[in-house]
Amino acid sequence: MKLSSDITAIITGGASGLGEGTARALAASGVKVGIFDLNEERGKQVAKELSGAFAKVDVSDNDSVEAGFAAIRAELGQERIMVNCAGIGGGMKTASRKRDTGEIVAHDVAYFTRIININLIGSFLCASKSAAGMMGLEPTAPDGERGVILNTASVAAQDGQIGQLAYAASKGGILSMALPMARDLAREGIRVNTILPGFFETPIYEQMKPEVKESLRAHVQFPNRFGTPAEYGDLAKFMVENAYINGEYIRTDAGARMPPR
Ligand SMILES: NC(=O)c1ccc[n+]([C@@H]2O[C@H](COP(=O)([O-])OP(=O)(O)OC[C@H]3O[C@@H](n4cnc5c(N)ncnc54)[C@H](O)[C@@H]3O)[C@@H](O)[C@H]2O)c1
Repeated sequence: MKLSSDITAIITGGASGLGEGTARALAASGVKVGIFDLNEERGKQVAKELSGAFAKVDVSDNDSVEAGFAAIRAELGQERIMVNCAGIGGGMKTASRKRDTGEIVAHDVAYFTRIININLIGSFLCASKSAAGMMGLEPTAPDGERGVILNTASVAAQDGQIGQLAYAASKGGILSMALPMARDLAREGIRVNTILPGFFETPIYEQMKPEVKESLRAHVQFPNRFGTPAEYGDLAKFMVENAYINGEYIRTDAGARMPPR
């Protein structure tokens, strides 16, 4: 898709990290950016800086997502680009033995459901409702493209570590959605792709102990550092622009392959 000020993009999780990096990269190409996020203060600040719009949206809530689309479309027009970055991490084993008491406990159901609801259902809700909106638009030249959807999975979709059961399942679901979604929408001229990030320097790691973060970096090959939101934004922009990438996924991980722990 050719980027210009005639094009609107909606980015979930655009208040922070990879979503913010994507919003900045698209805005730098003139695109009007709308941000969906729970973080109102930061979301409004980023939107203001990029002359875009913000809607406080919980991506896991159907009504909230619908209200968000209505608000952003009223302000910026129907989007042709939808990027799903909103998501949460988390860690819990399938079943575990408590160190102190030896008690055996199964994975908490509510915890599993919460991660699936935000990461997977949230991406599905935004992608599906965005596709429906894009289908009402006139196709653009030269291929008759109407829009592009980009979802954010994780390398955990392929090499989930110990304790990443729910997270890996949510991201595996996102990865598996791309091909059927791309096939569903092919006749409408809408492409669907997925990015699988490795380790990127964002607030998602704020709670993580420095030594754990350092141990993750040890798996990164070259360059041996965490990626930046700007690098993620560059890749997202490229996947939006390049018309011949469809139903595809790209790992951006500097060669990292995750071991069990
Ligand atoms: N940072 C990494 O290394 C990394 C690696 C692999 C995958 N990812 C994925 O990339 C995405 C972005 O992560 P990040 O590192 O930028 O994290 P981040 O915490 O910086 O940003 C996530 C944003 O999503 C928002 N959010 C969370 N739940 C939401 C909800 N229910 N509705 C709306 N907004 C919500 C948060 O408020 C936040 O602004 C996530 O899906 C994450 O799983 C990140």
